Amino acid sequence: MEQTREDHNGPSPAAVYDRIGIGYKNVRRPDPRLAALIRQALGGARTVVNVGAGTGSYEPQDAEVTAVDPSQVMLDQHPGPRKVKAGAEELPFADGAFDAAMAVLTVHHWPDLRRGLGELRRVSRRQAVFTWDPEHRPELWVVEDYLPEIRELDASRFTPLADVVEALDAHTVLPFPIPHDFTDGLQTAYWRRPESYLDPAVRAASSTFATLPASVVEPAMERLRADLESGAWHRRHARLLEQESVDYGYRLVVAGES
Ligand SMILES: C[S@@+](CC[C@H](N)C(=O)[O-])C[C@H]1O[C@@H](n2cnc3c(N)ncnc32)[C@H](O)[C@@H]1O
Repeated sequence: MEQTREDHNGPSPAAVYDRIGIGYKNVRRPDPRLAALIRQALGGARTVVNVGAGTGSYEPQDAEVTAVDPSQVMLDQHPGPRKVKAGAEELPFADGAFDAAMAVLTVHHWPDLRRGLGELRRVSRRQAVFTWDPEHRPELWVVEDYLPEIRELDASRFTPLADVVEALDAHTVLPFPIPHDFTDGLQTAYWRRPESYLDPAVRAASSTFATLPASVVEPAMERLRADLESGAWHRRHARLLEQESVDYGYRLVVAGES
């Protein structure tokens, strides 16, 4: 029998977010540089549906936004007035109901990506999807040196970028190198601030860390702590400390009316 994404990954994504959503907002603070890129991609949209909206990061302040998410814990932290509890695969809106649709760091959680992206195209005239390409290299040093288990987990969750581009019939793919002081605490955010990964609150706001068992993560983080104390980490990654940003494979995929 074919294994479903949920079988492989344990609890449903909405259930994972019902658990890790608590405290998410403190670590996952929207970064103004990514916000500007997304706003530009949405064009002059006046009405926007944000699918997998979570706490509302990156929603344009000058548009009327409808937030959609299947996790009640996430929706409860969303400050907006228009909130709908639903999954991307079945959006309760009429065809062409919105000028634009956005989906940020969420498509890898959807049980049926093609259907979800099809729904985005059905309900909006323009789509902007921010995601991560699992085939991109280099990998974050956390994965290479401490937690190779992340590689397998992410490869099973994230869809190759080419599939997202094809399903959306996208016309533009914009790289987003992660700045060294990126404020949104996603998995790679702290590539130049290694001590941050030792903080359990930082790890709890990343679904990959939160999905792996503590028996795997904690010994790896103890090795990182020892390498930071001995100076081994700094010797190995001296060149990283000189960089302003690194392309870890994050991409904004834009489709529809331009
Ligand atoms: C990493 S969070 C991103 C939230 C927000 N877009 C942001 O950038 O902070 C992923 C979100 O996807 C939501 N999600 C999970 N399964 C989904 C589905 N089938 N359809 C839509 N959203 C889903 C989760 O509940 C969670 O809020």
